Amino acid sequence: MALKRTKIVDIFSPELVGEQVCVKGWVRTRRGNKHVQFIALNDGSTIKNLQIVIDLEKFSDEELKPITTGSSLHVEGTLVASQGKGQTVEVQAQTIEVYGTADPDEYPLQKKGHTLEFLREKAHLRMRTNTFGAVFRIRHHLAFAIHKFFNDKGFFYMHTPLITASDCEGAGDMFQVTTLNLADLPKNEDGTNDYTKDFFGKPTSLTVSGQLEGELGATALGAIYTFGPTFRAENSNTPRHLAEFWMIEPEVAFNDITDNMDLAEEFIKYCVQYALDHCQDDIEFLNNMYDNSLLDRLHSVLKEDFVRLTYTEGIKILEASGKKFEFPVSWGVDLQSEHERYLVEEHFKRPVILTDYPREIKAFYMKQNDDGKTVRAMDVLFPQIGEIIGGSEREENYDKLIGEIERRGIPMKDMWWYLETRKFGTVPHAGFGLGFERLILFVTGMANIRDVIPFPRTPNNAEF
Ligand code: 4AD
Ligand code: MG
Repeated sequence: MALKRTKIVDIFSPELVGEQVCVKGWVRTRRGNKHVQFIALNDGSTIKNLQIVIDLEKFSDEELKPITTGSSLHVEGTLVASQGKGQTVEVQAQTIEVYGTADPDEYPLQKKGHTLEFLREKAHLRMRTNTFGAVFRIRHHLAFAIHKFFNDKGFFYMHTPLITASDCEGAGDMFQVTTLNLADLPKNEDGTNDYTKDFFGKPTSLTVSGQLEGELGATALGAIYTFGPTFRAENSNTPRHLAEFWMIEPEVAFNDITDNMDLAEEFIKYCVQYALDHCQDDIEFLNNMYDNSLLDRLHSVLKEDFVRLTYTEGIKILEASGKKFEFPVSWGVDLQSEHERYLVEEHFKRPVILTDYPREIKAFYMKQNDDGKTVRAMDVLFPQIGEIIGGSEREENYDKLIGEIERRGIPMKDMWWYLETRKFGTVPHAGFGLGFERLILFVTGMANIRDVIPFPRTPNNAEF
């Protein structure tokens, strides 16, 4: 009977020592001398490689020649305690089958130590490196943690549409979705495009957020969260923006802004703790390779209460800072990453939740404060990242909401279904959106958002 494969993550257990094992994976390195060769084998299940020991008396040159970096192997042999440094066990190979070779003259990952920029051009292979293996295992565990957090709290996972006919959110420019022939567009008499001939009979786009539909869910199921891709066609080439990113949006009936802040803080801390508990090897690797303050930063976020203050108080601190910002600050301006990071990294030295932003710089659906100037918004600001969460208590008053929609000139006909939540059994409610990749940036210490999603979509980049 064929021997069952053991994943490398499961092989470092003392009970297996002395057993026959079968392992499969990709060769990371091969080295050795005339008598014995050592292969570092990795199968993606862990950052750890398994050492395969090859006694050259047992294998011919012919058999060993195709075993080069990047080739894929099926190895059977005895698991033994290792004498060497850096590993506890190793496999003494008895049989080796090469599944696929990787020509050393062509394989892009033949050498170690490539830059992250180079590896971005090789996104189809970069998951085979230690760094990206670590990042994407952490990404998985964080996704799982998010579902667990909300499931344990009794939230329902809601799937909101990716194709939408409304641009109500105003969160950013949208990607249009159409089946019309762009080279031969059907026209109305006045020369505009005739969208009645389009697939949905009207113009449609990819969603920038699932929030508005999420509110429909929350005002029925009580507490929901969405977790899916969102799309923004803004031309912002920064280390923190993607054109396609994943967002988690909880929405809770009967929550006010304080409940919302409590939920956001508990949620992020849960995710960070989960990653520390389940991704220790990978986080340690990233800490040692890229950023040796990563672990300290993760632990300090867990320890500290997030500072909570109003936008107005935040502006006062920034104005009094005496710092020369690239974008000058005064009450009413939208905060830039440099301002957010000053508050978090220099002034308070811990995460900050800013609330009560000026009405004019925030979305139409946010609950209006009595001062007539501010809304019950909240942004969570993080070290190294800036804004990681944006959210608010929602305006539940039908007349106030309509007033704001009209004032902004948002086409009302697109909004009728949203407005009915306020017409029929309206309730106070609140929610927020966490940018999944920004959370991963924080947890991995990576500096560029293109390095925490397998196939980043940014302006001029959709190769893979
Ligand atoms: O602040 P935003 O635009 O809020 C919303 O979309 C609301 N509908 C959320 C809600 O209340 N339900 O986006 C939320 C978060 C930001 O704080 C940021 O972390 C992330 O999404 N984000 C991006 N991440 C990567 N690339 C982009 N282009 C992003 N834009 C926003
Ligand atoms: Mg925002």
